[in-house]
Amino acid sequence: MILVTGAGGKTGLAVITAATQRGLAVRALVRRESRTAAAQQAGAAEVVVGDMTRAAVVREAAEGVTAIYHIAPNMNPQEMHMGQMAIQAAQSSGAHLVYHSVLHPHTEEMPHHWHKLRVEEEIFMAGVNFTILQPAPYMENILAYWAAMQARGVYAVPYPPDTRLSLVALGDVAVVAAEVLANPAAHRGATYELVGTAALSQGEIAAVCGGLLGREVVAEEMPLLEWELQAQANGLPALAIHTLSRMFAYYGRYGLVGNGNVLRWLLGRAPTTLAEALRG
Ligand SMILES: NC(=O)c1ccc[n+]([C@@H]2O[C@H](COP(=O)([O-])OP(=O)(O)OC[C@H]3O[C@@H](n4cnc5c(N)ncnc54)[C@H](OP(=O)(O)O)[C@@H]3O)[C@@H](O)[C@H]2O)c1
Repeated sequence: MILVTGAGGKTGLAVITAATQRGLAVRALVRRESRTAAAQQAGAAEVVVGDMTRAAVVREAAEGVTAIYHIAPNMNPQEMHMGQMAIQAAQSSGAHLVYHSVLHPHTEEMPHHWHKLRVEEEIFMAGVNFTILQPAPYMENILAYWAAMQARGVYAVPYPPDTRLSLVALGDVAVVAAEVLANPAAHRGATYELVGTAALSQGEIAAVCGGLLGREVVAEEMPLLEWELQAQANGLPALAIHTLSRMFAYYGRYGLVGNGNVLRWLLGRAPTTLAEALRG
């Protein structure tokens, strides 16, 4: 049995699906009862409902498991505390800890990356068996812009069109997660950057989307302030707006460039392309 935390979110469900397909039995830790059905549909054999900021919840959920796949919620101020809860649960259960980190956690300008680096540091010092996965932004995030691209032919992002970002298909990340969970000893102590594409400009991403939509799509920069006002109007919490704004500013200044060699090696095949991921 393995434990997946943050199991009711998009990453968690993808990891449960891939792990189950790999023949692993999964216990899913979800925050709300209403996510139980989704976790079961993804293949979870057991579902625990609880708050992963609470030590007893995570410790009890980890009882008897051989591995913990720890996923913290996106941009959460308690990421470091949740990481500590997962570490303590790995210590008490003796389970191998797999931490779902992020590409380039070393960037202090992006708080949610920086918090992940600090969790990685604590894992190194905790004396547990571990593997760290550092995925690039998911290709599937682009689907949030799909309707606007279809309607207006514009891919509007809050950074310049020539910003280069490496992306990865969530499905590929989940396949690697399942491989690590199935063979933890073989991946003990490893930190893997998971990158699916050479860094693409926003113009190149728009062109791929246009090809799939059968219409011209161009990338345009939306001023960051306009994005922030729109996010506020849509009810996004202030902390998420602040964190995302810093991420977009960082992207605009430096891009986010990784390399796909490690993912290719782990998959034993070429990573999924952007067009394949968006086609579904
Ligand atoms: N998205 C990307 O492109 C990307 C790329 C690389 C790495 N990552 C990292 O991947 C991780 C997961 O991202 P995601 O987009 O899959 O997140 P997500 O969809 O927001 O899922 C997070 C899950 O955690 C649950 N959760 C929140 N607080 C909890 C608590 N206190 N106790 C138990 N469960 C709790 C949420 O439950 P509710 O449903 O109740 O809110 C949600 O189901 C993040 O750490 C992110 O930084 C993401």
